[in-house]
Amino acid sequence: MNEISKLVEQGYNKIAEDYYNHRDLNKFNKELEEFAFLLPDNAHILDVGCGAGIPTAKFLTQRGIKVTGIDLSETMLNLARKMVPNAEFIKMDMNELEFKENTFDGIVSVFALFHVPKKNHLDIFRKFFEILKPEGILLINTGISESEGKNNFFGVPMFWSNFNPKTTLELVKKAGFSIIFEAVLERGGEYQYWIFGKKIK
Ligand SMILES: C[S@@+](CC[C@H](N)C(=O)[O-])C[C@H]1O[C@@H](n2cnc3c(N)ncnc32)[C@H](O)[C@@H]1O
Repeated sequence: MNEISKLVEQGYNKIAEDYYNHRDLNKFNKELEEFAFLLPDNAHILDVGCGAGIPTAKFLTQRGIKVTGIDLSETMLNLARKMVPNAEFIKMDMNELEFKENTFDGIVSVFALFHVPKKNHLDIFRKFFEILKPEGILLINTGISESEGKNNFFGVPMFWSNFNPKTTLELVKKAGFSIIFEAVLERGGEYQYWIFGKKIK
């Protein structure tokens, strides 16, 4: 595991409860609803950087979707296992995804890519493409201005990293995805860049 992942893991292990307690749980229901709508019947999706499983894994399992969540932080994963007992949660680094080609009908990664160094984003998008089934759906978000560095987050050092939306869009396309929707959206007073993509092969 790289040094950044270790820092992020240690940070979330310490702040998991605080982060969860401050989460505005319903602020992107519209995007989750759209994601669920785009999936086939009996879909199996991967939630990358799933955190405490709320809202994403909970929202999707409640709609009959099978969810596998991965995260660096065992403390976050333990919260998720309690909050969403009917989903599967695995400790894994998104830089080293260990799934076979054509495994998932959808991949969602929200409020998580911004903890991964910019230089790794394209490889991660390529891996997402590989492990999605043909016609698979991608939903991601990132921050809206290019930056990379550390700051204090709930009292622990945390790493943040973002391209600007134009570059993120180019990388998602370069990884092979067709774009269904992309926009900067305001949700709960914060602006994020959102992309819905599709693996058309
Ligand atoms: C801001 S929280 C968001 C969690 C959840 N997606 C949500 O919307 O509430 C970011 C999560 O991403 C996880 N994370 C960060 N970097 C990761 C990586 N390289 N691999 C897997 N998970 C990662 C963190 O441990 C943390 O639980």
